[in-house]
Amino acid sequence: MLFDTHAHFDDERFDADRDAMLEQMKDFGVTNITNIASSMASSRRSVELAEKYDFVYASVGVHPSETENLTETDMEELRRLAQHPKVRAIGEIGLDYHYPDDVAPDIQKKWFIRQLDLAQELNMPVIIHDRDSKGDSLEILKKMKISNGVVHCFSGSAETAREIIKLGMMISFTGVLTFKNARRAIEACAAVPTDRLMIETDCPYMAPEPHRGERNHSGYVRYVAEKMAEIKGISYEEMVDITDRNAKRFFGI
Ligand code: NI
Repeated sequence: MLFDTHAHFDDERFDADRDAMLEQMKDFGVTNITNIASSMASSRRSVELAEKYDFVYASVGVHPSETENLTETDMEELRRLAQHPKVRAIGEIGLDYHYPDDVAPDIQKKWFIRQLDLAQELNMPVIIHDRDSKGDSLEILKKMKISNGVVHCFSGSAETAREIIKLGMMISFTGVLTFKNARRAIEACAAVPTDRLMIETDCPYMAPEPHRGERNHSGYVRYVAEKMAEIKGISYEEMVDITDRNAKRFFGI
């Protein structure tokens, strides 16, 4: 009953074996996957995957690093794609200041806010990508009173995690939790109530130990659940069950 809440099966790294991989997922105990979009093209592909596979749901949205040439026409298309019954969230959207030559912060902010507006208008949850934004993402979420969302691949402190929880949002963790230098992520995970936790792979990226460095896939989400169960001091089965229920509530399944 594993639910991978954040996968990118539309990524070109799955071009050679996408269908074979997705068909294998049930053998890994994965019963649901949300394919998360990162650009306009990826939003379209995400919807196509959700149409093709009954256990795949989709989000539509544009990652901060892909916002440079966005237009209002794109927002209209997102609004239209979001009406599809298997589209359950807007994302991933947010801010990423990691690379200095990435899209300018002002442009990122403009389209982050615009897509948050769209999600509020459509009453849909948001998938937040926040990397090195120095608190800007959280400030925008607070200001806009966003409560229906998840901060994905969480890498912040326990203190930041508590602030996000206070907003009413969820927090999800990737295989980063299993890395040897994961002390901060482990502390943050420990600070999150179990009913606010979700598990994800962010595949093809972020493969957990013992597969670190390999191409990731949803089958490896069990390593995240195992680590989370250990941190929370509950059984693996219980953790899988809790995160499955949390994800279904979040995505309205
Ligand atoms: Ni992602």
